[in-house]
Amino acid sequence: MKACRAVQISDNVYWVGAIDWDIRNFHGYSTDRGTTYNAYLIMAEKVTLVDTVKAPFRDELLARIRSVIEPEKIDYIVSNHAEMDHSGCLPAMIDIVKPEKIFASVKGVEALYLHFGLKGITAVEDGGEIDLGNMKLTCLETRLLHWPDSMVSYLAGDKVLFSQDGFGMHLASNERFDDELDDYILYHEAAKYYANILLLYSHIAAKVIKRIEDSGLEITTIAPDHGPVWRSKIPWIMDLYKKWSARELKKKAIIVFDSMWDSTRMMARAIEDGLTEGGVHVKVLNATATSRAEVVTELIDAAALIVGSPTLNNHIFPSVADILTYIKGLKPTGVVGASFGSYGWSGESVRVLNAWLADMKIELVGEGVRVQYVPRSEDLERCRQLGLDVAKRIENLPDPLIVTKVCT
Ligand code: FEO
Repeated sequence: MKACRAVQISDNVYWVGAIDWDIRNFHGYSTDRGTTYNAYLIMAEKVTLVDTVKAPFRDELLARIRSVIEPEKIDYIVSNHAEMDHSGCLPAMIDIVKPEKIFASVKGVEALYLHFGLKGITAVEDGGEIDLGNMKLTCLETRLLHWPDSMVSYLAGDKVLFSQDGFGMHLASNERFDDELDDYILYHEAAKYYANILLLYSHIAAKVIKRIEDSGLEITTIAPDHGPVWRSKIPWIMDLYKKWSARELKKKAIIVFDSMWDSTRMMARAIEDGLTEGGVHVKVLNATATSRAEVVTELIDAAALIVGSPTLNNHIFPSVADILTYIKGLKPTGVVGASFGSYGWSGESVRVLNAWLADMKIELVGEGVRVQYVPRSEDLERCRQLGLDVAKRIENLPDPLIVTKVCT
């Protein structure tokens, strides 16, 4: 671990986190590009560590800290978020560092006790300040972004916002800053993170962003707990968060389906034809071939969700049920939906899908299309018409974002 070094991100702040190149599943979210667990060292009079890393990465954290200062010289530890990717090695760090004080939000104090039995942590109230001697940290609660304990902290002087999960992404890299990475990857991974982690809390995210804007805090660096540090594209990521949290949907539909003997696939492609003919951008996502996290990423700005499944044992395919379960938990709002599927004899899948979509408060376009065994040309025409009907419902929405035109 001697090769691990800190990276300076502002006059007094160093990134001392860990890079996890191997992780491919983060509590059900496919992390194809790995991730980082970011921790930050503030070289104030009271030397302060902001967050720690996942437990197995303790030595990497220590090595990066040692490239700046001996860990025993850390005075304070601030826990912005108690989830174990950020607190996993906190007990070990407390043993090594023996800090004078540890700070967390009121809910964070409770969460750290319930996780690790930690006591004696100082609770910081919403809007409270931590005096670092020659600098101060201001803490703002961001409950439920991503856990009830979550808070962000702002270092005046250096103008750094430590945003914990907010503005993060699962992306392993040795590049530490937004301007060192490809714009499309930044967009895709930021959108994927928002869709999979924060979508459910969009109404809260909108309020937090407004609060940060209204606070008048001058922010030149956003230091999240995952992925790159933002220093060049802060207005861009802020604007994206505003759009995502406001659920600004686009003229875009996703078709999620699985197929037994290609009949439901043929139906999906005919619906795709109708949508395309109606001027809608379409993604056709096979439920077996596409991770649930990627499906939800496409749903971040899609105005229509069309779901297809053959009938299997009087029900729907498990792969489709998996994705619907995941989407249901994230509660995408403002979406219209439709269903389709082939069957052999009993034919329950469309009824099941409609009930599922209705339960998710997704407004249905039509009753869905059912086809026995193999679709004939008139069946495919019904599917194409369903695509046209859905397109008609969302035709006035704007086109999806094209990253290269926006992120310059
Ligand atoms: Fe990265 Fe909610 O933890």
